[in-house]
Amino acid sequence: MTKLGIKDQLNRPLRDLRISVIDRCNFRCQYCMPAEIFGPNFKFLPRSELLTYEEIERLAKIFVQLGVEKIRLTGGEPLMRKDLHYLVKLLANIEGLRDLGLTSNGVLMPKYAKALKEAGLKRVNISLDSLNDDLFRKINGRNVSVQPVLEGIYAAREAGLGVKINMVVKKGLNDSEIVSMADFCKNEQLQLRYIEYMDVGSTNGWLLRDVVTKKEIFQLLQQCYELEEVEPAYFGEVAKCYKYKGTNIDVGFITSVSESFCSSCTRARLSANGQIFTCLFNGNGHDVRSFLRNGMSEDEIKEEIETIWKKRKDQYSDERSEKSSSNRKKIEMSYIGG
Ligand code: GTP
Ligand code: 5AD
Ligand code: SF4
Ligand code: SF4
Repeated sequence: MTKLGIKDQLNRPLRDLRISVIDRCNFRCQYCMPAEIFGPNFKFLPRSELLTYEEIERLAKIFVQLGVEKIRLTGGEPLMRKDLHYLVKLLANIEGLRDLGLTSNGVLMPKYAKALKEAGLKRVNISLDSLNDDLFRKINGRNVSVQPVLEGIYAAREAGLGVKINMVVKKGLNDSEIVSMADFCKNEQLQLRYIEYMDVGSTNGWLLRDVVTKKEIFQLLQQCYELEEVEPAYFGEVAKCYKYKGTNIDVGFITSVSESFCSSCTRARLSANGQIFTCLFNGNGHDVRSFLRNGMSEDEIKEEIETIWKKRKDQYSDERSEKSSSNRKKIEMSYIGG
C-alpha cells in the first residue's frame, strides 16, 4: 500500500470534473447495475431531485474557476436525460474549459450524435464489452445485441466526435474476447481501453479473483502485436497507453486494481442530485444543491468547494489490496458514473 504524503496531496490539483446527469440506464450491466437489484421496483431519483441544467452550469463555472479543465458527462446513461445537447452547449461555452466528453453505452448515439457535436461536445467513450451477440446480451442484461452499439460508434465518428471504446474485462465472462476486441478496434482505428473490473458500489458481487489484470491482458496482446509504450498525455491520465508499432492507433489499460493511481488523482464527481464525491469509492457526498437552492453567492459556494477539495484524503484504490473489498459504504457506479 502507498500512503499519500503531504507532497502527493499537494500534487493532486482539481483538474477533472465528472458530472452524472441521471442515475437511470437502459442497460443492466452485471458489473455495474445487476438486474436482480435494479429491478422494476428500484427507486431511481425523481426528476425534482435532479440538478437543472442551469444549476449544473453554475457549478461547472465555479469548478472551472477552481482549476477544472476537463468535464465528462456520465450517468447512468447520460443520453437518457432529455435534451442533453442543451447542457453541452452551456458547458462548451465556459471559458477556460479545455475538454468536454461523454461516457455512454452508445445505443442512443445515432439519435443525438450530430446535435451533441454541434453543441460543442468533443469526445465520447462508448462501452463495448463483447462482440459476441449472445455474450453481449447476457452482459448488458437487456437483451441488446452488438449492432445498436456499433451503430452508435459509427454515428459518433461520422458526426466528428472523438471515439474511445471501453471494455471492462471480467474473468470467465468476456476475457475470451480480449484479442478480438483489439482486432476490431485496430481495424476500425478506434482507441481501446481495457478496464480492470472494480469493486465499485456494493451490488455487483465483486471478487478479486474475477479481475483480469493489465499484465494478463498485455501478455495476450503481445502474442499478436508489437506494442510500444506511449508517455502519458497529461498529468493524472488514467489510462496507461501503448501504440501498435508502425501505427498511430493506441490501446490503453485502466489499472485501478493492479496498479492504482490515486497519487495523481485529480477527479471530483458531481452526482445528478447535486452531491460532490471526492472519490469513486467514497460513500459520503457533500450536498451542494442546497447551496444553490439556499441562495448562497458564487464566492461562498466556491469557498465551500475549495474546502471540500483541500480536506480530501481519498486513496481507496491504493488501500484496496490491504482491505480487499471492504464493507465501507460505497456509492454505486450507476449513480456517480464511473
Ligand atoms: P478520458 O477522458 O478519455 O481520459 O477517459 P476516462 O478514462 O477518464 O473516462 P471513462 O469514463 O471512459 O472511464 C474509464 C474507466 O476508468 C471507468 O471504468 C472509470 O470508472 C475508470 N476511472 C476513471 N477515473 C477513475 C478514478 O479516478 N478512479 C478509479 N478507480 N477509476 C477511474
Ligand atoms: N468496474 C470497472 N468499470 C466499470 N464500468 C462500469 N462498472 C464497472 C466496474 N465494476 C465502466 C463502464 C463504463 C465506464 C464509465 O465504467 O463500462 O465504460
Ligand atoms: Fe452498463 Fe454503463 Fe448502464 Fe452501468 S451505466 S448499466 S455500465 S451502460
Ligand atoms: Fe481517485 Fe478514488 Fe480512484 Fe483513487 S480510487 S484514483 S482517489 S477516485
